[in-house]
Amino acid sequence: LSLSPLKDKTVLITAGPTHEPIDPVRFIGNHSSGKMGISLAETAAEMGAKVNLVLGPTPLRPTNADVNVISVETAVHMHQECEKLFSLTDISIMAAAVADYRPKKVADQKIKKADGGLHIDLIKNPDILFDLGNKKSATQVVVGFALETENGIENAIGKLHKKNCDLIVLNSPSFNTGFGKDTNEVTLINRKEEQITLGLKSKQDIAKDILLHITDHLLPK
Ligand code: PMT
Repeated sequence: LSLSPLKDKTVLITAGPTHEPIDPVRFIGNHSSGKMGISLAETAAEMGAKVNLVLGPTPLRPTNADVNVISVETAVHMHQECEKLFSLTDISIMAAAVADYRPKKVADQKIKKADGGLHIDLIKNPDILFDLGNKKSATQVVVGFALETENGIENAIGKLHKKNCDLIVLNSPSFNTGFGKDTNEVTLINRKEEQITLGLKSKQDIAKDILLHITDHLLPK
């Protein structure tokens, strides 16, 4: 990009899954590859921003060396790193698929197979987007994602308000969208509940559209 619309801006992005340990060899996780958030981080850096990417466990890394990668494993760790960075951040975009729950206790040793089933008690993880959204200042922009398999618009609008975001990016898992895919199809929803649907395109192009929407409509002038 020839212009640098994000020059002097600091951007915080979360990406990838979180892994919530059950015992030393097992975890609860999900299918996020980190591609969507990594594309956002690379594009924000190309637009001139200083970018911190808090990245859950995935082998993928940004190709742009200007992106500062902070690797984390769990939701609690991701939350701590975001908390440290937030006060100096202008734009936060939460593209990670954070586990909502974690095992209450992590077994010290590998859990042995026994007769009958196995119960694992789960407790709630911190909601990073909720925290940042509810403490942002008037000049900070906070953007969330919503991954929905049903009632997408309604659920995304619910999350937008509950988590106090400036914008929510709705997407759904399918054969060419969502987890692990190189393409995505999203609907941007703002606080007035206006919707812009972006057709199927590469995650890089989706990232560019989201960041241009933020610079054109959400950043304080
Ligand atoms: O990584 P890829 O393979 O490229 O896939 C991209 C993606 C599908 C993971 C991405 O586009 C996406 O939708 N990310 C959000 C997935 C998700 O967990 O959505 P959610 O509807 O459960 O969460 C809503 C929002 O709250 C998200 O911004 C999420 O990052 C945030 N959240 C959720 C729970 C939590 N404990 N903390 C959070 O910050």
